Amino acid sequence: MLPSTTLSVPECTDVPRHIAIIMDGNGRWATKRFLPRTAGHVRGVQAVRRVVEACGKKGVDYLTLFAFSSENWRRPADEVSLLMRLFIKTLQKEVDKLDDRGVKLRIVGDLSPFEPRLQDLIKLAEQRTEHNTGLNLTIAANYGGRWDILQAIKSLLQARPDLAVNPQSIDETLLSDFLCMAFAPEPDLFIRTGGEQRISNFLVWQLAYTELYFSDDFWPDFGAKELEAAFEWYRTRERRFGRTSDQIAKKP
Ligand code: FPP
Repeated sequence: MLPSTTLSVPECTDVPRHIAIIMDGNGRWATKRFLPRTAGHVRGVQAVRRVVEACGKKGVDYLTLFAFSSENWRRPADEVSLLMRLFIKTLQKEVDKLDDRGVKLRIVGDLSPFEPRLQDLIKLAEQRTEHNTGLNLTIAANYGGRWDILQAIKSLLQARPDLAVNPQSIDETLLSDFLCMAFAPEPDLFIRTGGEQRISNFLVWQLAYTELYFSDDFWPDFGAKELEAAFEWYRTRERRFGRTSDQIAKKP
């Protein structure tokens, strides 16, 4: 069990320990260049590579990327199918390199609707990198924050049926152990590219006290320089976690 920002005040470091990113703007990046939207997703994978590398160099512990939301099934069938193929191809192509760099890869979300081949590749990639001690890279796929909270409630009650007759005993700590990001501290920094300013059902529980950074860059244009700008902004934030500025200034 990891500390919760609503139960205790965490220690803050200049480099965020955990960064969560909504990689938005792939479609618009492509449309601007008279290319099919799917070309933007292909270029988006290159940006993933750059950001993974930059996070490793900067000493970030956890990087969590929103690759496919539970609502993205609403997209045109050909775009969904391209994203699935891209996911398969990226896993096949990148896992060796990630493993060489000591990255520990996890995929979170409801993986059950994915084709068996993709589910197998995910399992193999996770097994292959499970003993690595470098960057913890998590890809959220068919993930939704509300789905996560609901699945955690169901899993908790399955593990502890006594709580159904005594719901007053349910607390944050008991529930958060069943969320799919239970292995990671809550994100310090959230980044959304593409100019929109919303959370879009990503990590709705975990973002309670996360600093929110919005960039107008489209995701395929994002890289080490843009990440550094986000870090610079992050360092200017006063993270109060419910306290006043005076209380923070008086801290020894
Ligand atoms: C949002 O841009 C992006 C997505 C829904 C997919 C993100 C996928 C990738 C970056 C590539 C695959 C990644 C991995 C890790 C395999 P959008 O399509 O909503 O862009 P728009 O807002 O301009 O339309």
